[in-house]
Amino acid sequence: MTKAVTIHETGGPGVFKYEDVNVADPGPGEIKLKQTACGLNYIDVYMRSGLYPLNEFPAIIGMEAAGIVTSVGAGVTAVKEGDRVAYPMVPGAYAEERLIPDWKVAKLPDGIEDQTAAGMMLKGMTAHYLLHRTYPVKPGDPILVYAAAGGVGQILCQWGKALGAIVIGCVGSDAKADIAKAAGAQHTINYTTENIAEKAREFTGGEGIAVAYDSVGKVTFEASLDSLRPFGVMVTYGNASGPVDPFSPNILAPKGSLYVTRPTLGTHTATPELLAEGADALMKVVADGTVKIHVNQTYDLKDVAQAHRDLEARKTTGSTVLIP
Ligand SMILES: NC(=O)c1ccc[n+]([C@@H]2O[C@H](COP(=O)([O-])OP(=O)(O)OC[C@H]3O[C@@H](n4cnc5c(N)ncnc54)[C@H](OP(=O)(O)O)[C@@H]3O)[C@@H](O)[C@H]2O)c1
Repeated sequence: MTKAVTIHETGGPGVFKYEDVNVADPGPGEIKLKQTACGLNYIDVYMRSGLYPLNEFPAIIGMEAAGIVTSVGAGVTAVKEGDRVAYPMVPGAYAEERLIPDWKVAKLPDGIEDQTAAGMMLKGMTAHYLLHRTYPVKPGDPILVYAAAGGVGQILCQWGKALGAIVIGCVGSDAKADIAKAAGAQHTINYTTENIAEKAREFTGGEGIAVAYDSVGKVTFEASLDSLRPFGVMVTYGNASGPVDPFSPNILAPKGSLYVTRPTLGTHTATPELLAEGADALMKVVADGTVKIHVNQTYDLKDVAQAHRDLEARKTTGSTVLIP
């Protein structure tokens, strides 16, 4: 028996239960992990609340963790007992122990601590695909980064700046504006008091931005479109304020022949090659100091309800890690 956080129905943070669960021996191609640190991500809120439907109950949510391999199933050669590994985007992370397919984990180098790994895999590999695959950022590109003091946001600011982008960070408070600036944002917009599109145009000499990395969703979608330059790219990749309302593609023509995409890390980690490319690129920039992972909050795994409350109340900055 091992401990895990389960949910038997979707709803508010009160649905979490800290329970005994059984973890079997690993089958062919599987490994068993003793997890030392689990990452908290906004997708966990969507899964807990029911915005992203779950197939069956009870369910163990949580998509990211670091830990040590305690046993391996038949045919596993990529990792062995005792290896330190981490993974993004595999449901079932809120647990002391778990099974996972061997190809879904990346080995951790000595220089990356477990808590750092748990705070970076999902958020950092998201930043990687956004900046390199969805809209490959070029030096001089003005880019709009939402929730710029948050987990993904601070990584986007640092990595975007390192790629030569002019980062404009959107934040919900002046204190968060300081955090975004420290992470590499050249300009900030406090979207609780300032007009996003007006400020974005002001910071770009009237031209508009090359790309909007919009994770806030419902309440900022139109402002993001209105901030873009002709042929600009609207990347709507999250729903912190709620899902974006349906819209007609016809609105994209008069705004400058814009592009809209709605990507997910799920597609970007769906093959061993895609997963390894993202994980390797992330570990390189973390190991050489280009990107610093700020684990600003830690909670015991059994206190995950409070962690969710704080994340949803916009009280957290950087990454949050749950300790099993
Ligand atoms: N599509 C993908 O592949 C993918 C992968 C990873 C993450 N994401 C998305 O990226 C976003 C960031 O994830 P994260 O885990 O790093 O979280 P986070 O940014 O650390 O936290 C969410 C932030 O969203 C902002 N926000 C704006 N309106 C909000 C509202 N009504 N309620 C709550 N928060 C609000 C808050 O920052 P301010 O106070 O500064 O506004 C809050 O701190 C999420 O939307 C997530 O779904 C998408």
